[in-house]
Amino acid sequence: MIDIHNHILPEMDDGAENIQESIEMARKAVEQGITNIIATPHYYKGKYDNDKEKVEGQTTKLNQVLSDLEIPLKVWPGQEIRISDELLKEYDNNNVMALNGSKYMLLELPSSHVPRYTERLIFDLQMKGITPIIAHPERNMEIMKNPHLLEELIWKGAYSQITAGSITGKFGWRTKRFSKYLIHSGLTHLIASDAHNIGNRGFQMREAYELVEKNMGQEVVDAFHVNSENVLYGMKVKELFV
Ligand SMILES: [Fe+2]
Repeated sequence: MIDIHNHILPEMDDGAENIQESIEMARKAVEQGITNIIATPHYYKGKYDNDKEKVEGQTTKLNQVLSDLEIPLKVWPGQEIRISDELLKEYDNNNVMALNGSKYMLLELPSSHVPRYTERLIFDLQMKGITPIIAHPERNMEIMKNPHLLEELIWKGAYSQITAGSITGKFGWRTKRFSKYLIHSGLTHLIASDAHNIGNRGFQMREAYELVEKNMGQEVVDAFHVNSENVLYGMKVKELFV
C-alpha cells in the first residue's frame, strides 16, 4: 500500500516531533500494510518554511534510520503546499516541488473557503507541466456547501485526495457522508492518511479501504491503489467510475 500524504518527517511541522516519533509512525505504517510513503510536510511560507532541499535532506536521513532498524518502509520526498499567489514564483525558485519530483503537486486550500485565484493557479501550474492534487476537499467548508466548486477544479484538470480518517468517520458524520458522496460522484481519485502522529491523527488507511471495499467493491479499492502508485511514479492518474 502507498500513502501519498503524510507528516512523518521529524521536526518539520505539526507532524512527527522528533525522530523517535517518526520511527513509531513508520512501525504503525508497516502494521497497516504500507510499503511506501510520500512525506509531505507543510510548506506554508512564514509558518512552515520546509523548502525542497530541506525535505529531500530529511527524507534521506529518515530512510537511513529506517534501513538501519530494518523497518521495511521507503519514504519519498514531497510537500503539502499551501496555495498562494506566489506559488509559481516559489516553484521557479525551487522552493516547492512535485510529489517525489514527479508531475503531481499536493495543494492545501484554506479550510474555510476556496480562494478565487485557485482556478487560475491550476491552469498556470498545468502550463508548467504540473498536475495539482487538491488535498482533503471533504474538509473544506465552502466545498461542503457547494461541491460544484470542486467539480470546476476537477474539470479544469486537477485531481483530489480524500483523507482516510474522513472515510472512517474520524472527522464527524458530515465529513464521512460527504467523502462517500465525492467518491460516488467521481470527484476524487486518491486516498491517503495525512497522518501526523500515532495518536489522534494516525493512519486509518486499512480501515478506510475496508469500508470502501464493503460499500463500493474491490474494483474501486484497486483503482485507488493504482492511482497512488501512479502518483508516486509520475504516471497517469485515472478517473474513478463508481
Ligand atoms: Fe497534511
